[in-house]
Amino acid sequence: MNKGGDTGRSTKQRYLDTMGILRWQLREPSLPENVQQADEETGVPALSVSPDGDDAGQEITEIARLDWDALRSRVSECTACELHTSRTQTVFGVGNQNADWLVIGEAPGADEDAQGEPFVGRAGQLLNAMLLACGLKREQVYIANILKCRPPNNRDPRPEEVASCEPYLMRQIELIQPKLILAVGRIAAQNLLQCDTPIGKLRGRVHRFRDTGIPLVATYHPAYLLRSPAEKRKAWQDLQLAMQVVREAAS
Ligand code: URA
Repeated sequence: MNKGGDTGRSTKQRYLDTMGILRWQLREPSLPENVQQADEETGVPALSVSPDGDDAGQEITEIARLDWDALRSRVSECTACELHTSRTQTVFGVGNQNADWLVIGEAPGADEDAQGEPFVGRAGQLLNAMLLACGLKREQVYIANILKCRPPNNRDPRPEEVASCEPYLMRQIELIQPKLILAVGRIAAQNLLQCDTPIGKLRGRVHRFRDTGIPLVATYHPAYLLRSPAEKRKAWQDLQLAMQVVREAAS
Protein backbone atom coordinates (compact mmCIF):
# COMPACT_ATOMS: atom_id res chain seq x y z
CA MET A 1 0.00 0.00 0.00
CA ASN A 2 1.25 3.50 -0.79
CA LYS A 3 1.37 5.28 2.55
CA GLY A 4 2.10 8.95 3.21
CA GLY A 5 5.71 8.11 4.13
CA ASP A 6 6.34 7.03 0.54
CA THR A 7 5.90 10.47 -0.96
CA GLY A 8 9.67 11.00 -1.12
CA ARG A 9 10.26 7.85 -3.16
CA SER A 10 12.11 8.31 -6.40
CA THR A 11 10.55 7.10 -9.63
CA LYS A 12 13.14 4.33 -9.80
CA GLN A 13 12.33 3.24 -6.26
CA ARG A 14 8.63 3.11 -7.06
CA TYR A 15 9.34 0.76 -9.94
CA LEU A 16 11.67 -1.34 -7.82
CA ASP A 17 8.80 -1.56 -5.36
CA THR A 18 6.54 -2.60 -8.23
CA MET A 19 9.00 -5.37 -9.00
CA GLY A 20 8.65 -6.42 -5.36
CA ILE A 21 12.22 -5.57 -4.37
CA LEU A 22 12.54 -4.13 -0.88
CA ARG A 23 14.70 -1.06 -0.33
CA TRP A 24 17.09 -2.73 2.07
CA GLN A 25 17.88 -5.32 -0.57
CA LEU A 26 19.37 -2.82 -3.00
CA ARG A 27 23.09 -3.19 -3.50
CA GLU A 28 25.84 -1.87 -5.67
CA PRO A 29 26.20 -3.99 -8.79
CA SER A 30 28.63 -6.78 -8.21
CA LEU A 31 30.20 -8.21 -11.35
CA PRO A 32 30.90 -11.91 -11.02
CA GLU A 33 34.64 -12.56 -11.10
CA ASN A 34 34.19 -15.08 -13.88
CA VAL A 35 32.53 -12.81 -16.44
CA GLN A 36 35.27 -13.30 -19.00
CA GLN A 37 35.18 -17.09 -18.71
CA ALA A 38 31.43 -17.25 -19.11
CA ASP A 39 31.41 -19.03 -22.43
CA GLU A 40 34.05 -21.53 -21.43
CA GLU A 41 32.13 -22.33 -18.29
CA THR A 42 28.80 -22.88 -19.98
CA GLY A 43 30.19 -24.50 -23.09
CA VAL A 44 28.33 -21.96 -25.20
CA PRO A 45 29.47 -22.24 -28.81
CA ALA A 46 30.34 -19.14 -30.81
CA LEU A 47 28.95 -20.21 -34.16
CA SER A 48 25.58 -19.27 -35.58
CA VAL A 49 23.19 -21.68 -37.23
CA SER A 50 24.16 -22.58 -40.76
CA PRO A 51 21.62 -23.05 -43.54
CA ASP A 52 20.05 -26.44 -43.98
CA GLY A 53 20.46 -26.65 -47.73
CA ASP A 54 20.60 -24.48 -50.83
CA ASP A 55 17.02 -23.19 -50.61
CA ALA A 56 17.31 -22.41 -46.94
CA GLY A 57 20.66 -20.76 -47.54
CA GLN A 58 19.17 -18.64 -50.32
CA GLU A 59 16.27 -17.62 -48.09
CA ILE A 60 18.57 -16.66 -45.23
CA THR A 61 20.72 -14.61 -47.58
CA GLU A 62 17.64 -12.79 -48.86
CA ILE A 63 16.31 -12.08 -45.38
CA ALA A 64 19.74 -10.81 -44.33
CA ARG A 65 19.43 -8.05 -46.94
CA LEU A 66 15.93 -6.79 -46.10
CA ASP A 67 15.29 -3.35 -44.65
CA TRP A 68 12.84 -2.84 -41.78
CA ASP A 69 9.71 -2.49 -43.93
CA ALA A 70 10.54 -5.44 -46.17
CA LEU A 71 11.44 -7.56 -43.14
CA ARG A 72 8.18 -6.73 -41.37
CA SER A 73 6.20 -7.56 -44.48
CA ARG A 74 8.11 -10.82 -45.03
CA VAL A 75 7.43 -11.89 -41.45
CA SER A 76 3.73 -11.06 -41.74
CA GLU A 77 3.44 -13.46 -44.69
CA CYS A 78 5.65 -16.20 -43.25
CA THR A 79 4.50 -19.80 -43.66
CA ALA A 80 7.87 -21.41 -42.91
CA CYS A 81 6.60 -23.51 -40.02
CA GLU A 82 3.33 -24.99 -38.81
CA LEU A 83 2.65 -22.11 -36.42
CA HIS A 84 1.26 -19.99 -39.25
CA THR A 85 -1.82 -22.22 -39.29
CA SER A 86 -2.83 -21.41 -35.71
CA ARG A 87 -1.69 -17.80 -35.27
CA THR A 88 -4.02 -14.82 -35.32
CA GLN A 89 -1.18 -12.66 -36.57
CA THR A 90 2.60 -12.48 -36.44
CA VAL A 91 4.28 -10.54 -33.64
CA PHE A 92 7.22 -8.81 -35.27
CA GLY A 93 8.73 -6.77 -32.45
CA VAL A 94 8.36 -3.25 -31.15
CA GLY A 95 10.41 -0.29 -30.02
CA ASN A 96 13.35 1.87 -30.88
CA GLN A 97 15.16 0.60 -33.96
CA ASN A 98 18.33 2.33 -32.71
CA ALA A 99 18.04 1.00 -29.18
CA ASP A 100 21.02 0.23 -26.96
CA TRP A 101 18.97 -2.54 -25.32
CA LEU A 102 17.40 -5.41 -27.22
CA VAL A 103 15.11 -7.49 -25.03
CA ILE A 104 14.39 -10.97 -26.37
CA GLY A 105 11.69 -13.20 -24.93
CA GLU A 106 10.34 -16.58 -25.90
CA ALA A 107 7.23 -16.34 -28.06
CA PRO A 108 3.91 -14.52 -28.21
CA GLY A 109 1.24 -15.62 -25.77
CA ALA A 110 -2.52 -15.19 -26.17
CA ASP A 111 -2.47 -11.42 -25.51
CA GLU A 112 0.41 -10.85 -27.90
CA ASP A 113 -1.18 -13.03 -30.60
CA ALA A 114 -4.36 -10.95 -30.27
CA GLN A 115 -2.64 -7.54 -30.25
CA GLY A 116 0.35 -8.18 -32.53
CA GLU A 117 2.84 -6.77 -30.03
CA PRO A 118 5.29 -8.58 -27.73
CA PHE A 119 4.95 -8.50 -23.95
CA VAL A 120 1.57 -6.81 -23.60
CA GLY A 121 0.09 -9.15 -20.98
CA ARG A 122 0.84 -9.41 -17.26
CA ALA A 123 4.42 -10.47 -17.90
CA GLY A 124 4.75 -7.44 -20.14
CA GLN A 125 3.62 -5.15 -17.32
CA LEU A 126 6.36 -6.55 -15.12
CA LEU A 127 8.90 -6.27 -17.94
CA ASN A 128 7.96 -2.59 -18.28
CA ALA A 129 8.51 -2.13 -14.54
CA MET A 130 11.88 -3.89 -14.75
CA LEU A 131 12.94 -1.61 -17.58
CA LEU A 132 11.76 1.48 -15.73
CA ALA A 133 13.81 0.40 -12.72
CA CYS A 134 16.78 0.70 -15.11
CA GLY A 135 15.65 4.17 -16.14
CA LEU A 136 14.28 2.95 -19.47
CA LYS A 137 10.85 3.47 -20.92
CA ARG A 138 9.51 0.60 -23.00
CA GLU A 139 9.73 2.80 -26.12
CA GLN A 140 13.47 3.31 -25.63
CA VAL A 141 14.36 -0.37 -26.01
CA TYR A 142 13.52 -2.87 -28.72
CA ILE A 143 11.49 -5.93 -27.72
CA ALA A 144 11.30 -9.12 -29.76
CA ASN A 145 10.89 -12.86 -29.28
CA ILE A 146 12.61 -16.02 -30.42
CA LEU A 147 9.39 -16.88 -32.27
CA LYS A 148 7.14 -14.49 -34.14
CA CYS A 149 4.08 -16.74 -33.89
CA ARG A 150 2.28 -18.12 -30.86
CA PRO A 151 2.78 -21.83 -30.17
CA PRO A 152 -0.60 -23.47 -29.42
CA ASN A 153 -1.41 -23.55 -25.71
CA ASN A 154 1.86 -21.71 -25.06
CA ARG A 155 3.89 -24.89 -25.41
CA ASP A 156 7.66 -24.60 -25.74
CA PRO A 157 8.94 -23.66 -29.19
CA ARG A 158 10.12 -26.65 -31.25
CA PRO A 159 13.63 -26.67 -32.72
CA GLU A 160 12.35 -26.50 -36.29
CA GLU A 161 10.19 -23.47 -35.41
CA VAL A 162 13.15 -21.72 -33.83
CA ALA A 163 15.31 -22.50 -36.86
CA SER A 164 12.67 -21.17 -39.29
CA CYS A 165 12.26 -17.95 -37.33
CA GLU A 166 15.91 -17.32 -36.55
CA PRO A 167 16.85 -15.45 -39.75
CA TYR A 168 14.25 -12.79 -38.94
CA LEU A 169 15.61 -12.23 -35.47
CA MET A 170 19.19 -12.26 -36.75
CA ARG A 171 18.29 -9.54 -39.25
CA GLN A 172 16.61 -7.48 -36.53
CA ILE A 173 19.75 -7.78 -34.41
CA GLU A 174 21.89 -6.71 -37.34
CA LEU A 175 19.68 -3.72 -38.11
CA ILE A 176 19.52 -2.58 -34.48
CA GLN A 177 23.13 -3.32 -33.53
CA PRO A 178 22.29 -3.10 -29.84
CA LYS A 179 24.89 -2.54 -27.15
CA LEU A 180 23.26 -5.27 -25.11
CA ILE A 181 20.93 -8.21 -25.56
CA LEU A 182 18.81 -9.02 -22.53
CA ALA A 183 17.54 -12.58 -22.89
CA VAL A 184 14.51 -13.07 -20.67
CA GLY A 185 13.81 -16.63 -19.70
CA ARG A 186 15.29 -20.06 -20.28
CA ILE A 187 14.00 -20.51 -23.81
CA ALA A 188 15.43 -17.21 -25.05
CA ALA A 189 18.75 -17.65 -23.28
CA GLN A 190 19.29 -21.25 -24.35
CA ASN A 191 18.37 -20.64 -27.98
CA LEU A 192 20.43 -17.48 -28.29
CA LEU A 193 23.41 -19.11 -26.64
CA GLN A 194 22.80 -22.50 -28.30
CA CYS A 195 23.12 -24.51 -25.14
CA ASP A 196 20.94 -26.37 -22.68
CA THR A 197 22.45 -24.90 -19.53
CA PRO A 198 19.80 -24.06 -16.90
CA ILE A 199 18.82 -20.38 -16.73
CA GLY A 200 20.03 -20.23 -13.12
CA LYS A 201 23.55 -20.90 -14.39
CA LEU A 202 23.33 -18.64 -17.44
CA ARG A 203 22.16 -15.59 -15.49
CA GLY A 204 24.47 -13.36 -13.46
CA ARG A 205 27.25 -13.11 -16.03
CA VAL A 206 28.02 -11.54 -19.38
CA HIS A 207 28.00 -13.75 -22.48
CA ARG A 208 28.70 -12.81 -26.09
CA PHE A 209 26.03 -13.36 -28.72
CA ARG A 210 27.68 -15.82 -31.09
CA ASP A 211 30.16 -14.24 -33.50
CA THR A 212 28.60 -10.75 -33.27
CA GLY A 213 30.37 -10.18 -29.98
CA ILE A 214 27.31 -8.32 -28.64
CA PRO A 215 27.20 -8.66 -24.85
CA LEU A 216 24.27 -10.79 -23.69
CA VAL A 217 22.86 -10.93 -20.19
CA ALA A 218 20.31 -13.61 -19.35
CA THR A 219 17.73 -13.26 -16.62
CA TYR A 220 14.52 -14.84 -15.45
CA HIS A 221 11.35 -14.47 -17.50
CA PRO A 222 8.89 -11.96 -16.00
CA ALA A 223 6.15 -14.64 -16.11
CA TYR A 224 8.38 -16.80 -13.90
CA LEU A 225 9.03 -13.83 -11.61
CA LEU A 226 5.28 -13.36 -11.21
CA ARG A 227 5.10 -16.96 -9.96
CA SER A 228 8.34 -16.79 -7.94
CA PRO A 229 8.67 -13.24 -6.61
CA ALA A 230 11.58 -14.21 -4.35
CA GLU A 231 13.71 -14.48 -7.50
CA LYS A 232 13.18 -10.81 -8.33
CA ARG A 233 16.26 -9.93 -6.33
CA LYS A 234 18.42 -11.98 -8.67
CA ALA A 235 16.69 -10.45 -11.67
CA TRP A 236 17.53 -7.01 -10.31
CA GLN A 237 21.19 -8.06 -10.01
CA ASP A 238 21.06 -9.13 -13.67
CA LEU A 239 19.55 -5.80 -14.67
CA GLN A 240 22.27 -3.94 -12.80
CA LEU A 241 24.85 -6.00 -14.66
CA ALA A 242 23.12 -5.16 -17.94
CA MET A 243 23.14 -1.43 -17.08
CA GLN A 244 26.82 -1.65 -16.27
CA VAL A 245 27.57 -3.30 -19.63
CA VAL A 246 25.73 -0.55 -21.53
CA ARG A 247 27.41 2.19 -19.46
CA GLU A 248 30.81 0.71 -20.20
CA ALA A 249 30.03 0.38 -23.91
CA ALA A 250 29.14 4.09 -23.99
CA SER A 251 32.29 5.27 -22.21
N1 URA B 1 6.26 -14.04 -23.08
C1 URA B 1 7.24 -13.91 -24.00
O1 URA B 1 8.30 -14.53 -23.90
N2 URA B 1 7.04 -13.05 -25.00
C2 URA B 1 5.95 -12.32 -25.14
O2 URA B 1 5.86 -11.56 -26.09
C3 URA B 1 4.95 -12.49 -24.17
C4 URA B 1 5.12 -13.34 -23.15
